[in-house]
Amino acid sequence: MVTMRAAVGADPTHVAAMPLLLPLLLPLLLTGPGADALRDVRMRVEPSAVEAGSPATVKCEYDLENQKLYSVKFYRGSHEFYRYSAEDEPHTKVFPFPQGLPSSPVNLQRSNQTQVYLGEVSPSLAGNLSCEVTTDDTFVTRLVYTNLVVAVKPEGPPHITTSKNSYDPGETLLATCVAQPSQPAAELSFYIGDRMVGQGVPEVRNTSTGLLETRLELRLRLADKHFNAGTGRDRDGGEMVVLRCHAEVPNLAVHNAYTRLSRRTKHPVPERVTQPNAAAALAAMPASLMLLLVVLGARGSLARR
Ligand SMILES: *[C@@H]1O[C@H](CO)[C@@H](O)[C@H](O)[C@H]1NC(C)=O
Ligand SMILES: *[C@@H]1O[C@H](CO)[C@@H](O)[C@H](O)[C@H]1NC(C)=O
Ligand SMILES: *[C@@H]1O[C@H](CO)[C@@H](O)[C@H](O)[C@H]1NC(C)=O
Repeated sequence: MVTMRAAVGADPTHVAAMPLLLPLLLPLLLTGPGADALRDVRMRVEPSAVEAGSPATVKCEYDLENQKLYSVKFYRGSHEFYRYSAEDEPHTKVFPFPQGLPSSPVNLQRSNQTQVYLGEVSPSLAGNLSCEVTTDDTFVTRLVYTNLVVAVKPEGPPHITTSKNSYDPGETLLATCVAQPSQPAAELSFYIGDRMVGQGVPEVRNTSTGLLETRLELRLRLADKHFNAGTGRDRDGGEMVVLRCHAEVPNLAVHNAYTRLSRRTKHPVPERVTQPNAAAALAAMPASLMLLLVVLGARGSLARR
């Protein structure tokens, strides 16, 4: 152990060279007597999806396995924005973000060697966050990263459009539901009554504002059971289908949109009752009389010329 430390140098300024030497040293560290490795370095953000403008805690947890901590550095992309250093006084330090990013949201009072508290998270902070833990005696370094999701609520419920306003049982209902843009993307599902319907695969597209818009199509052959499923009737007492689109951004927002589709053929239907009767009367007419009518009709049209 002693010779190995001499090779690396106990001077902290040599830490930068560690990543190059690490592959060579690691077997020694793991097999050497009493050597301890830095274990279980993990990173997470609480809450997992932060709402824009809200606080968040970026946690970097690790098991030092009897070693002393040298430093913990937090990065956004390649920019180090916070450092805990055991040797420095004070231990904690904030580095401002480069231009284009917000002024640092780090709250030093609530940050330490295992977490950084961000007072207000802006959408431009979203992306790759990483933490790098270095031990004191052996200068073992581990880097882990996580994705910071900055959540943006949809402005309201989704929109449903259908191919027609009224349908009969046996007809295919075509509907589309489009969520209002959000981050992360909304999950959509269709319901009639309290039954989920359709097996469409949602499509997610980027909007010009950097948010995500989910779109789901429904293709459903309507049956009698879909009419009046868990709902009242329409204004004239007619049957109808109430189609609901449920939009959910996990841990952030839930909205429902409804559309009411009336039954195309009402009961009782006058046309259906009269038309078959007229056809029946025609069919019952003697053939000779029909022929006469046709001849008279032809004559009439000739006379008019
Ligand atoms: C995140 O950043 C770290 C440090 O810059 C880098 O090593 C890692 O590959 C990045 N991860 C992704 C998914 O970009
Ligand atoms: C860092 O601060 C958090 C919150 O105050 C606390 O729960 C945690 O124990 C602290 N970590 C250390 C190593 O002191
Ligand atoms: C949206 O755009 C970003 C880059 O601007 C890309 O990384 C991402 O994959 C896109 N997402 C979708 C769902 O198209």
